[in-house]
Amino acid sequence: MDRRSFIGLVGAGAVLPSGFPGLSKAFQQTPRNPLRRAVTVSGEGLTLTARPARVDAGPGLVDAWTLNGSVPSPTIRLLQGQTARIDLVNQLPERTILHWHGLAVPQEADGHPRLAIDPGETYGYEFPVLDRPGTYWYHPHTHGVTAAQTYKGIGGLLIVEGDEEDGYELPSGEYEIPLILQDKRLGGDLSLAYGVGMPHDRMHGYLGDTAFANGVADPTVDVRRSRYRLRILNGSNARIFDLGLSNGDPLTLIGSDGGLLEAPIRAERIMLGPAERADILVDFSARQSGERVMLRSLAFEAPGMMMGMRGGRGGRGMMMGMGGPGQGSELDLLEFVVQDSPAEPGPPPPTRFSTVPDHGRITAATPRRTYTFNSSMMMGSGPTHTINGKTFELERVDERVPVRRTEVWTFVNESELPHPVHVHAGQFRVLSRTGGRARVMAWETGLKDTVLTMPGERVDVAVRFVHEGLFLLHCHNLEHEDMNMMLNFEVVA
Ligand code: C2O
Ligand code: CU
Ligand code: CU
Repeated sequence: MDRRSFIGLVGAGAVLPSGFPGLSKAFQQTPRNPLRRAVTVSGEGLTLTARPARVDAGPGLVDAWTLNGSVPSPTIRLLQGQTARIDLVNQLPERTILHWHGLAVPQEADGHPRLAIDPGETYGYEFPVLDRPGTYWYHPHTHGVTAAQTYKGIGGLLIVEGDEEDGYELPSGEYEIPLILQDKRLGGDLSLAYGVGMPHDRMHGYLGDTAFANGVADPTVDVRRSRYRLRILNGSNARIFDLGLSNGDPLTLIGSDGGLLEAPIRAERIMLGPAERADILVDFSARQSGERVMLRSLAFEAPGMMMGMRGGRGGRGMMMGMGGPGQGSELDLLEFVVQDSPAEPGPPPPTRFSTVPDHGRITAATPRRTYTFNSSMMMGSGPTHTINGKTFELERVDERVPVRRTEVWTFVNESELPHPVHVHAGQFRVLSRTGGRARVMAWETGLKDTVLTMPGERVDVAVRFVHEGLFLLHCHNLEHEDMNMMLNFEVVA
């Protein structure tokens, strides 16, 4: 049975026209599904049990891997300054470990793959929450299967709260929507099968054909004529989103990976690579009731993407079996439906937030390191992804970095593919970009833990670490990471 007739039988609405071809057209007539919000839990005395479960993906049930039976995983609220205590119980059929992406935590709590636990085991995390209020992420970090475990549904948002956000009257409660945006391949049988046998997937990463938000395919959300705060994570394995609204209204960006910016920024598009976050205000108060506004990934030029469909309008199913529209295709992500309600414009966003901490003064004497990212197609062995010519080894220490010392790290993308570069153990500041886009983008001006490098780009960042121990630097294209585009650095006294 194909997906559409399945929906016709089990869905609430009319039976959709069936029959191929015209699959992508029929897909556009698929009823959209109501967005779900993750349950919110506290990180104090929390138990997360990793286990398979059937979950509702919108058009029907899918087999997923979950924490506590739900997709997405619970949203964990932490208070800056508190100590988080979280137990991970592994009831999956394979090893796993969780990583608190973006938080500066001690090495025992960082989810390094050498700490992965066997089925039946429990891992106890305890760490102080040092980071600024903001939107962070947690996800599996199991060597070689991070992509599969994340794709199957494990992962959720971490929201750090603290005084710094007080007094800005930012939308909260119903008006604050945490959003995990992802692309997946939704088979006609509603399977979420993951497999990267094809060299194309191993080169580019796994691109999906269906937009998911919070685990729901083709989502829609009812909004009042009011102001909303969207805490957006690009939780995709490999897809870059160039976020924009269908009505052309600008987005008001208030925060990024490591909390609030110094001042809000208005932008018509915000490009987020995998693992990057954007904290955005959207005002629907001037919209008419019944109006529909689509949050979409706008078409962009993706250099080095040899596949067709580049930059075009991504029809779903057009590339069935090949992972849907290519990188850079336009993709509808989430539809807002404006409800009949009184207009509540609310206070304008503040013109200034508190100061983003810097990493100390950068001078010619500041120590520097360079990391060069390369991807190549090797005859015989297929795609290879390297940093400084090397692939990851679990026990090999690649760099030794003094604790509490500011350094400038340069990420050089010498390949034909984008690489979202991520550093564990603390937030960095983006200092400069040369080549390619040749500037620091507006949404990169706060604290960051992941920065997108396009082919030919060199990006300088300032790093500084507060915990000693073994941490990771890697590409956050999860297929690249699993294929060992990763290294260990040890922070030493
Ligand atoms: Cu989000 Cu090392 O990962
Ligand atoms: Cu991380
Ligand atoms: Cu990469």
